[in-house]
Amino acid sequence: MKVTLSTDSIANVKADLLAIGVAGRPGRHPLVQTLDKKSRGRLKEQVRLEKFDGSAGTTLRTAASGISAKQILLVGLGAGDDTESRAQTFASTVARVARDFGTVAIVPLAETPALVRATATGATLGAYRYTRYLTGDRLPKRSLSTVKVLVKDRRAEGLREAVDAGVAVAESVNHARDLVNAPPNDLHPTALAAFAAEQSKALGIDCKVFDKKALDKMGMQLFLAVNRGSSQPPKMVHMTYRPEGVANPPKVVFVGKGLTFDAGGLCIKPPKSMLEMKCDMAGAATTIGVVLAAARLKVPVEVHGIVGSTENMLGADAYRPGDVFPSKDGKSVEIINTDAEGRLVLADCLAYARELAPDFLIDHATLTGACMIALGPWTSGLFTDDEELATRYADASAEVGESFWRLPLNPDLKSMLKSDIADLKHTGDRSGGAITAALFLQHFVGETRWMHLDIAGPAFAERPHGVLPKGGTGFGVLTGVRFLEALGAPAAAAEEA
Ligand code: BES
Ligand code: MN
Ligand code: ZN
Repeated sequence: MKVTLSTDSIANVKADLLAIGVAGRPGRHPLVQTLDKKSRGRLKEQVRLEKFDGSAGTTLRTAASGISAKQILLVGLGAGDDTESRAQTFASTVARVARDFGTVAIVPLAETPALVRATATGATLGAYRYTRYLTGDRLPKRSLSTVKVLVKDRRAEGLREAVDAGVAVAESVNHARDLVNAPPNDLHPTALAAFAAEQSKALGIDCKVFDKKALDKMGMQLFLAVNRGSSQPPKMVHMTYRPEGVANPPKVVFVGKGLTFDAGGLCIKPPKSMLEMKCDMAGAATTIGVVLAAARLKVPVEVHGIVGSTENMLGADAYRPGDVFPSKDGKSVEIINTDAEGRLVLADCLAYARELAPDFLIDHATLTGACMIALGPWTSGLFTDDEELATRYADASAEVGESFWRLPLNPDLKSMLKSDIADLKHTGDRSGGAITAALFLQHFVGETRWMHLDIAGPAFAERPHGVLPKGGTGFGVLTGVRFLEALGAPAAAAEEA
């Protein structure tokens, strides 16, 4: 799909669909009035018949007359300001409706770089479909090929770059969605690592893949314990994007949980919960997506992405409740429930990541069902003791419309991780499960400024919600990228001066 800027008028633009966002009374909207005149009153008649009132989430699609476009789509925006998040949701709704159309023309909410970028992002996100395993009749016959963003001046400062940036970020989100949706028989750790390496190579960024022997040499016995029950070898991926010509850029390391399948190990999951466990590498997908987008946008920040990937299975050599393993960090850990595998993989990856001495260390993980119980399906848990980092992330997420909610690293719960025979046990009580998981991770980050994002809920959607499609959502890429852009803004300004 391509996104272009077009200076065609709404009357003359050639498109299968012409889309307009409507806030408040549709009849008052100047473009609706223009189109209504062209159609000799038919448009407003449709608006009345369908009782379309412009409230958020509603749409009206109708045949056009008197203009070059074939159909008109009015999208209700509801009350509120024209924010980036609103422009993104609007464009994504349009693209979803227009998925089976060839060309759609969109009138952006405003012709500013920020809102044009959000329009490009939203359209690219909304057009997403996962079709890799469909054949014959099940393959879509048509798809959205061109999105024309209608503007008065195509050469206006920053618009072209805004479109390119919007598409680059959304394509990175869509890559993450593809990875999460891929079936676990095909997307094993080796395939996940190969994807990261391939994409890195295409963008000219560094990517190292560590195999089982290398992990063993580095002392990652917690990570390897999880892998013992699987016939698939584990992989750790380390991607590095370094900006060119930026002196002393800030350094951010992202770490992602990459369980390509989580059967629960010997503490096996019931079938219903196991079915969606191909999504347990979503943290890895988000991490890869953020690094790819950062490289494409050339953010003036050094960005590392570290992914710990394995399956959690029940082979004869599987790790057991009661086992004790040393961690890369040195601390010994008593295994309680083999289904709490993510924190073990992350513990060793965080210990590795911390050696890179980042300014900020951020992990994404589908870590606990408890976090979904606490926050519902569309909100990520956010854990950090660093106020500045929390604020920066809250600001970034609000801009791009992803939902995070801060939960406490409550020190009162630390005693739940005391083991009789080892330095730590790796699970606490059932209550506070998302918090004790975060507290366990905290033991492995030292003094590094760190944040843990439990994306168990929003990483994989049972039904669409806002710009999140059903299935893999790529949640977290948009916020991660925006956080990096804001962090790099002073360096970017200095470079321009
Ligand atoms: N991958 C799961 C968490 C999960 C649950 C992700 C639902 C997405 C949707 C994780 O490895 C897990 O099994 N966690 C256990 C921890 C418990 C055994 C302490 C859980 O949440 O039940
Ligand atoms: Mn598990
Ligand atoms: Zn898991």
